[in-house]
Amino acid sequence: MNTVINPAKSLNGTVVVPGDKSVSHRSVMLGSIAKGTTHVTGFLTGADCLSTISCFKKLGIDIEVDGTNVTIHGKGLHGLTAPTETLDVGNSGTTLRLMSGLLSAQPFNSHVTGDASIQKRPMGRVADPIKLMGGKITSKNEKLTAPLDIEGCKLHGINYTLPVASAQVKSAIILAGMYADGPTTITEPEATRNHTEIMLNYLGADIKTEGNTITVNPVEELTARDISVPADISSAAYFIVAALICPNSEVTVLNVGINPTRIGIITALLDMGADIELKNERIVCGEPVADIVARTSRLHGTVIKGDIIPKLIDEIPIIAVAACFAEGETIIADAEELKVKESNRIETTTAELNRMGAEITPTDDGMIIKGVHKLHGAECNSYDDHRIAMSVAVAALAAEGSTTILDSECSNISFPGFYKLFDTLREA
Ligand code: S3P
Repeated sequence: MNTVINPAKSLNGTVVVPGDKSVSHRSVMLGSIAKGTTHVTGFLTGADCLSTISCFKKLGIDIEVDGTNVTIHGKGLHGLTAPTETLDVGNSGTTLRLMSGLLSAQPFNSHVTGDASIQKRPMGRVADPIKLMGGKITSKNEKLTAPLDIEGCKLHGINYTLPVASAQVKSAIILAGMYADGPTTITEPEATRNHTEIMLNYLGADIKTEGNTITVNPVEELTARDISVPADISSAAYFIVAALICPNSEVTVLNVGINPTRIGIITALLDMGADIELKNERIVCGEPVADIVARTSRLHGTVIKGDIIPKLIDEIPIIAVAACFAEGETIIADAEELKVKESNRIETTTAELNRMGAEITPTDDGMIIKGVHKLHGAECNSYDDHRIAMSVAVAALAAEGSTTILDSECSNISFPGFYKLFDTLREA
């Protein structure tokens, strides 16, 4: 599918964006190994989270989906059963990495695969610590990529320092560590999203965090509790930036998760002079939540690097769009992880925004964006990467002339209904 986006004269109103992708994945995984029934509300029914549901059904769990309400009939920590077929994670790195940790500790073997993009994504980062725990994740490829064979093993606790800041790898080790014969300690180079730790403690596990070190004690049982998923800050980001760069705009995004490990984009945009307000701050199921208001702003360039990077890693393409409309230069560094996302996002962000008249220079660990204030419409590729398609769409709202996004349906990975939702905010 191709989507044509015309510029917006202004954007005004209130939107509800879909549920948080990271929290939705975890609700299915942890609900499946908790004892009892978990009712999830606000679940993201994007393709990635549906892949997680399909995998856990193949592991013997009954899961019912009714719109954004999901009911999981958990069978307890030792209730998963051997899959009779390959587990297919589709495009979802989170499913692949977290599930690999969990499957390593089961009393059965599994075979896991995914789409062409997944088959390029590094898995040695999970297999290495799992091997130290006594597990075995192997691949026929030298580079250790999916398809993977995961042997179920008796694991032991380890002390492990993550070589890269990755919440997916951290979470894989935490999930394996719950089944180990002793405590596991993980140290991260920089703090990454901590939804696994929050949800596990909410379900009765004992996960301690001190600075960047997480200690997981073996778990006897998790107890099912209802989970309300906040809206995804990564999805809200497109509406926030659109309001900042389109004229005469004010957009409110309701009920957004503002976990401190996720709001690097808000910090960076405020630093660029953005008019953003957080309202009605509250805690839901252990996660902080707020309504976010964004208004048309005069932005200026900034430097984004160091320990903020994991807190905004998925938002760098849309931050690059904001930087195109800022005064001066924005430098993004320490973000080499962008190269191993759904596409090489240093290359794909640069290529597609430059096609629209941006002046972005790619670097080895990020990019340098010169503020040009205006972009023009173009025919742009998505590379089947949802975040590239959606970032180009926002750039197109503030560009001159119309933009065509090729293979635009990949936005369904994390944001069903994305393009149409903008029409509700346009001037009649
Ligand atoms: C995620 C962690 C991040 C992020 C991804 C979701 C998670 O990946 O980019 O979209 O849910 O744990 P890494 O752990 O590879 O940085």
